[in-house]
Amino acid sequence: MKRIAVLTSGGDSPGMNAAVRAVVRKSIFHDCKVFGVYRGYAGMIEGDIKELDLGSVGDIIHRGGTMLHSSRSEEFRTVEGQLKAVEQLKKHGIEGVIVVGGDGSYRGAQKLSKHGIATVGAPGTIDNDIPGTDFTIGFDTALNTIIDSIDKIRDTASSHERTYVIEVMGRHAGDLALLSGLAGGAETILLPEVGHNMDDIIDRLERGAKRGKKHSIIVVAEGIGSGFDVAKDIEKRTQLETRVTVLGHLQRGGSPTGFDRVLASRLGAYAVDLLLDGKSGIAVGLEKNQLVHYPFDEIFQKPHQIDKQVYELSAQLSI
Ligand code: F6P
Repeated sequence: MKRIAVLTSGGDSPGMNAAVRAVVRKSIFHDCKVFGVYRGYAGMIEGDIKELDLGSVGDIIHRGGTMLHSSRSEEFRTVEGQLKAVEQLKKHGIEGVIVVGGDGSYRGAQKLSKHGIATVGAPGTIDNDIPGTDFTIGFDTALNTIIDSIDKIRDTASSHERTYVIEVMGRHAGDLALLSGLAGGAETILLPEVGHNMDDIIDRLERGAKRGKKHSIIVVAEGIGSGFDVAKDIEKRTQLETRVTVLGHLQRGGSPTGFDRVLASRLGAYAVDLLLDGKSGIAVGLEKNQLVHYPFDEIFQKPHQIDKQVYELSAQLSI
């Protein structure tokens, strides 16, 4: 294999640039030509593909977002779209593609491999919802962004003696809510993976108030529904003055943490090694600090799970 392409796809995440840099530099280190596919699968279909050199990935390791831009392409879900993309790759003589993204991006990569293009996925999403890796690229940065926000909200919650509901990202996964709630000292954490009962939450808040607790932080993963609904319920059923903050897309931006830069660099470079080793239809990950890889099929079959022990600990520490 002498011609490799890299793309970023789906929701961007801090560290994607570091992964692209690693792919480009490791490919050139191995005397391969490397191409950037711009705007994810949408750009692949349109042939938005350019050769990258060592300098084209200079000065990006510390930047959030993705220099290659990203998209969620509806057209690529169709066989016609996939075949158009394959044709564009063939025009450039590209034999292997590294896709940095989440679950949907991996499904696209698997389609490409079925059309004869070798593919390796690298987990890039703030949600940390990809099986086969302990952490996804961008999760640590987003986690720290949320913790910083919780700390700030805690100041005003304490000054005004209010209850705050903070809604964080995580469509199907509660990892961001769980770990930020634990690290931010939240009284209650609501996750899509664990059912909740509003009666218990109200009870807990009222017991806290009776004990003299003046303010509370409730972290809600967007996957359970709207933070506004939770807050409305609390205000209706208690005397607690409640406010809501939806952190939204600010969680996706910012300079990647050291952890995310190192993770992205290791996974990007490893993806190149595996492609050059003749592997395809697989995704890379880091488990117990060891580089690992699994076939896409295996990853799609494993359900994402939260760490139950950490969840129980968060409940024990917030009594
Ligand atoms: O997949 C990452 C993510 O940030 C989710 O947490 C969130 O639900 C979703 O993307 C938002 O997607 P979009 O930016 O397309 O609105």
